[in-house]
Amino acid sequence: MADLLMGLDIGTTGCKTVLLDEQGEWVASSTQFYPMHTPQPSWAEQDPVDWWEAAVKSIRNVLKTEGIAAADIAAIGLTGQMHGLVILDEEHQVIRPCIMWNDQRTIEQCRAVTDDLGLAQVIELTGNQILPGFTAPKIKWVEEHEPENYHRIAKTLLPKDYIRFKLSGGFFSEVSDASGTSLFDVAHRRWSAEMLDVFGVKPTWLPEVTESPTVSAHVSPEAAQATGLLAGTPIVGGAGDQAAQAIGAGILSEGDTSVTLGTSGVVFTASDSYRADPQGVLHAFCHAVPGTWHLMGVMLSAAGSLRWFRDSLAETEVIQARELDVDPYELLTRKAAQAAPGSEGLIFLPYLTGERTPYPNPNARGVYFGLSLRHDKSHLIRSLLEGVAYGLRDSLELLQRLGIEIRHVRASGGGAKSDFWLQILANVIGKEVIKNRSDGGAASGAALIAGVGAGVFADFDAACAGLQMDREAILPNQDRLVYDDFYQLYRSLYDPLKPLFDRDQALVMKYLINPSEGAGG
Ligand code: XUL
Repeated sequence: MADLLMGLDIGTTGCKTVLLDEQGEWVASSTQFYPMHTPQPSWAEQDPVDWWEAAVKSIRNVLKTEGIAAADIAAIGLTGQMHGLVILDEEHQVIRPCIMWNDQRTIEQCRAVTDDLGLAQVIELTGNQILPGFTAPKIKWVEEHEPENYHRIAKTLLPKDYIRFKLSGGFFSEVSDASGTSLFDVAHRRWSAEMLDVFGVKPTWLPEVTESPTVSAHVSPEAAQATGLLAGTPIVGGAGDQAAQAIGAGILSEGDTSVTLGTSGVVFTASDSYRADPQGVLHAFCHAVPGTWHLMGVMLSAAGSLRWFRDSLAETEVIQARELDVDPYELLTRKAAQAAPGSEGLIFLPYLTGERTPYPNPNARGVYFGLSLRHDKSHLIRSLLEGVAYGLRDSLELLQRLGIEIRHVRASGGGAKSDFWLQILANVIGKEVIKNRSDGGAASGAALIAGVGAGVFADFDAACAGLQMDREAILPNQDRLVYDDFYQLYRSLYDPLKPLFDRDQALVMKYLINPSEGAGG
């Protein structure tokens, strides 16, 4: 009987394909990597052809698993990096590389449209601010900077929806990913005619939008030949990576809240009704559970900050870790534990790649504040872990201000492997933190959505029933008071620095521009 579920995630660094069984248990997975290109500072691009090649390889790899046949797969769920712009011509060929979610080139386009419409109207129409990472301002950028490419556009797609096109020949998206385009009326779960007009987007360019578990396409004979899948295998709508990750963590109904400590740090809460942040600082998107929404704060460098530290300042620990055959992050967090809570007044602002929530500012930058001769590497690491937790608290406070009651948070992502970091988080946010043991990431979430769409699960509750959460929550302890005080200081550092970040960036642009093709891989 066909009861295996495939989830496919077009991530930022690679494509992960996962197979789950009818209990939602892991059966097999494979990840294939691809490069990211930064042809100019603050640009980020990928070649959709690389995604497709990686998808084909990873699908073929999981199908090699012993005892598995393509006919066992009941349905496929797609997920991936959100907001990216893929443009196709009349022949459905890719016109230029995808402009990705972390690309910051469209500051001017965002500003122009927001000034024109007024922020309140933008939020009324889309539920969100127009941010440089989002899709529509990228279309405007192409119109203004690459008119020859703009005039060839016949279709615009999000990254995972390009893979759906390659798998099926069909043009479809779904509500959660469409929410991050600035072209979608999130409250009514449909494209916004007004925003299409504002951005000069023809309705025929856009894919049809379904709910996440709806079967919108089937594997074509050509794609079956390329991948080894069975022609006719159903493909459900799927979800943007954050909504899919949340399904994989069991975040389904009002108030369920997760914190993902990945490269970026995401605070995600499910909501039974549509609620937009009046300032648009939190994102208000459709959730993958039909008829529900979610609110989300995205901090751009969470575990990414620790990775930066490991790569730039922790050569000794990296060598030591290799000798001891342990994870370098384990040594870094052990070192952090030698410093006292509050890091003796050292505060880290984690804006290494600019910031989104609560400060939508591509020019913001990382800061160590309060350095003294008493500080050593243990303080540098501890304050970095603390600074990321303060940034996550910023998003939680915004959620609470919207009246959302948060009892506890479920933690996932690479950084959540560290109980030490989770204890800091529990103290900083003053809430229980529950570790998600079955953290299969967005690909698993997409496979669970496929299971709902194919009827393998009766509903989302049934799909998530098998998820393994830690029984014991990590509780806040007496250090909470120290963190409350330092959080207030952390909060007051951004505003006075804001104009200085802008001046700093202007100087960087003046003296340091050094375009290098392919540097970001
Ligand atoms: C969500 C977001 C990221 C990207 C890449 O708004 O920008 O999660 O989808 O992972």
